[in-house]
Amino acid sequence: MDVEEFFIAAAIAIGLVSVCKSLLNFVRWVWVMFVRPPKNLKEYGSWAVVTGSTDGIGKALAFEMASVGLNLVLVGRNPSKLEATSNGIRQKYGYKVEIKNIVMDLAKLSGEEIARAIEEGIKGLDVGVLVNNAGVAYPYAKFFHEVDLEVVESITKVNIEAATWVSRAVLPGMLKKKKGAIANIGSGSSVIVPSYPLYTVYAASKAYLAMFSRCTSVEYKQQGIDIQCQIPIFVATKMTKLKASSFLIASPESYSKASMRCIGYEHICTPYWGHSLQWLIAHALPDVLLNASIFQYFLGMRKRGQLKESRNKKMQQENALGHCG
Ligand SMILES: NC(=O)c1ccc[n+]([C@@H]2O[C@H](COP(=O)([O-])OP(=O)(O)OC[C@H]3O[C@@H](n4cnc5c(N)ncnc54)[C@H](OP(=O)(O)O)[C@@H]3O)[C@@H](O)[C@H]2O)c1
Ligand SMILES: *[C@@H]1O[C@H](CO)[C@@H](O)[C@H](O)[C@H]1NC(C)=O
Repeated sequence: MDVEEFFIAAAIAIGLVSVCKSLLNFVRWVWVMFVRPPKNLKEYGSWAVVTGSTDGIGKALAFEMASVGLNLVLVGRNPSKLEATSNGIRQKYGYKVEIKNIVMDLAKLSGEEIARAIEEGIKGLDVGVLVNNAGVAYPYAKFFHEVDLEVVESITKVNIEAATWVSRAVLPGMLKKKKGAIANIGSGSSVIVPSYPLYTVYAASKAYLAMFSRCTSVEYKQQGIDIQCQIPIFVATKMTKLKASSFLIASPESYSKASMRCIGYEHICTPYWGHSLQWLIAHALPDVLLNASIFQYFLGMRKRGQLKESRNKKMQQENALGHCG
């Protein structure tokens, strides 16, 4: 073999290896997204705790969990929405599940108060699964210094502190029986893109959750507790005010179905296939482009949000005047 032939053979070999690798990755992706059987969540325990189960993803997840026969502890701040959720589930699956409601505003209580209320609420229950789903975001894109103080406060309290303290309250029971699964609902804003300007506090709070999940998953793996951070991108809920339209934007139902398939597996996962595809695309784009285009896009959203807000304010003022006169 001369030198030229050697290089051609080497190039073909390298090409083949990389094609095989891509193929294998693709097969693995299809397996994880569509084929791999979900964990039998009831094996972790007969009860599941879901925070923020009165709307969006959390509500849809609660229905999914009831459908497989898990009893539910639903945590929410609005008693009538909580009643509506649990009544809806009882009507559909009441013949096979029990439901307990815990009313508490995760933005108002101290961490210790949250932990105590959860401990009290789950006393005597065999809790196998916890989903830290409750979350808050900005009403619209803003520079950090423009964000209302209450919004900053509620994001850090609900997204960071509540998830921490609810986990703290649920873990000892899981440790005792050496079984359990925790899913923390993170966000693409903190792990998929290099920056998420104009939603700073939100993205940073979700970065905390990702690291919190990563570390605890290592700490408790050997104790039989599977901890993960789930990464949704866009889901059509009141938080995003989006309408589910394509594979890019999941409905709460399709997201929660995918979410159920992934609980107990990887310490970080993107359950919905359309989101996973977007992650792959984002991965292939250069950071400079992502940084600049996300910033530009959110600057536009900020403008539109400001316009809408000032229009609403004006309308309210006019209404108030109308009532007086
Ligand atoms: N939608 C998306 O595109 C998207 C993307 C990435 C990550 N996520 C994450 O997914 C999770 C669910 O979001 P979502 O889109 O389903 O939003 P959502 O429709 O606004 O639902 C949020 C849930 O959290 C509850 N909650 C908020 N503040 C609370 C508080 N202080 N105390 C107790 N409960 C509280 C809400 O209660 P109320 O019903 O009383 O409002 C609601 O049940 C969040 O952690 C969010 O950050 C969402
Ligand atoms: C994108 O922004 C992040 C945050 O400032 C920075 O670390 C990164 O270097 C930026 N990437 C490029 C290529 O500009």
